[in-house]
Amino acid sequence: MARRTVSVADFIETLKGFEKDPITRDRVLHYLRETALDRASLDRYVHFRSDMYTRNLIYRDDLIEAMAVCWSPGQRTVIHTHNGQLGWMSVESGALAVINYKWLGCNASDNQNVAGTELDIDRREVQECYPDGPVNTVDKVQTIHQVVVQGKERVVSVHVYSRPIESCVAFDLERRICYRRQLSFYSRYGQVVVDEGDLAAKPVPDSAEHV
Ligand SMILES: [Fe+2]
Repeated sequence: MARRTVSVADFIETLKGFEKDPITRDRVLHYLRETALDRASLDRYVHFRSDMYTRNLIYRDDLIEAMAVCWSPGQRTVIHTHNGQLGWMSVESGALAVINYKWLGCNASDNQNVAGTELDIDRREVQECYPDGPVNTVDKVQTIHQVVVQGKERVVSVHVYSRPIESCVAFDLERRICYRRQLSFYSRYGQVVVDEGDLAAKPVPDSAEHV
């Protein structure tokens, strides 16, 4: 289905309009399915790096946040949870695969929001996301996934979350542990906020972030 192209400013105004009533998965899903972002208006939020993908904040208030995530070929997230928040992701260019997991258990936590050890999660399905293709969602039921760049093209994806979160739990299947990690942005409102010295000081594996 061809999407209607709107500017980033109009996109954010529409998202803010959703705040007048309870924000549900389906209300935002329908809007994202029919909406593409004007690339010129998105450009200030687009920053590619070869050493990591970048999270670029477009808008944030108490209820929602919107960001552009920019990926180079070969990049991927770790497996991570969204703490039960609602989330929507559409791909503006390139292609991503979202690998969904089901949490089965963890010996040191009551739920997936608390870091623990000896975790047990199960790979369930893969969703391919591309322009004019499916909008990926997370919610209280499906909250754990990994996002992987597909193919040789750079990727720009747009993510909306409600509510914003500051950290998430990530999963290390090799060591069979989960751990809490802080979330950060490469740029906020069009301004790069990451210090190159900070990046150089610590190794940044291409899988070290979360979206
Ligand atoms: Fe995610």
